Amino acid sequence: MSPHEVPRVSDDLWTVMNSASAVRRYRDEPVPDDVLEKCLLAASWAPSGGNGQPWKFVVIRSPELREVITEAARQTWEVMKDFYRLPTVAEDADDPKSRVLRAMAEHMHVGGGAPELVLFCVQPQRGTTEMQQAGSIFPAVQNFLLAARAQGLGAAITLWHGHCEPELRAAIGIPDDWKIATLLTVGWPAGGHHFVSRRPLPTAAVIDTWETPWSTNEA
Ligand SMILES: Cc1cc2nc3c(=O)[nH]c(=O)nc-3n(C[C@H](O)[C@H](O)[C@H](O)COP(=O)(O)O)c2cc1C
Repeated sequence: MSPHEVPRVSDDLWTVMNSASAVRRYRDEPVPDDVLEKCLLAASWAPSGGNGQPWKFVVIRSPELREVITEAARQTWEVMKDFYRLPTVAEDADDPKSRVLRAMAEHMHVGGGAPELVLFCVQPQRGTTEMQQAGSIFPAVQNFLLAARAQGLGAAITLWHGHCEPELRAAIGIPDDWKIATLLTVGWPAGGHHFVSRRPLPTAAVIDTWETPWSTNEA
């Protein structure tokens, strides 16, 4: 196996964490309920402020809602490509940036047609800041992503709900005092899994002061 190949299924937590990158293209194959349930269960194991577990994970399967989401995803793409001045990617461009851009465009075109869609909602607790509210839902999102990866599934975080929130709220019956955190698309990857690409640790971690990069002191 080449060093760049990642096992499709692995119980090794390090490999799972290191290769749970966003997957935006899916095979046209259903996700069995027991596989999805493991992801939802892992999400429900996440920490939250005061162990309040102020979350609801909504699995969206209604064709009408999927259509609403598809339209929202397409609107997101229109806004994004103008805002970020995204270039049109040539069909045959094969560099990593072009591949990601093409996958993003396709993802937003398919939208609600992804094999599974899961909406993560949070009920803000009294007196909490937005940071604390996010902190009580995104660990659940991450647990879901890791459980998905561990089973060979792929998923992507999206903010598409921003373009269809009133319709989602009305159709699902989301109470007024709840917020939508994110909408995940989930499915079996059409390509493979890939190791994540991140900046070097010493630019992210420091010791004592902002300007003292993390170092192991090893030669
Ligand atoms: C808060 C948040 C919002 C995101 N929104 C989107 C999104 O709308 N569409 C999308 O395709 N990816 C979205 N992502 C995924 C990021 O683009 C992705 O995690 C990041 O580029 C790193 O890529 P990797 O996970 O493949 O390593 C979002 C991630 C986060 C944490």
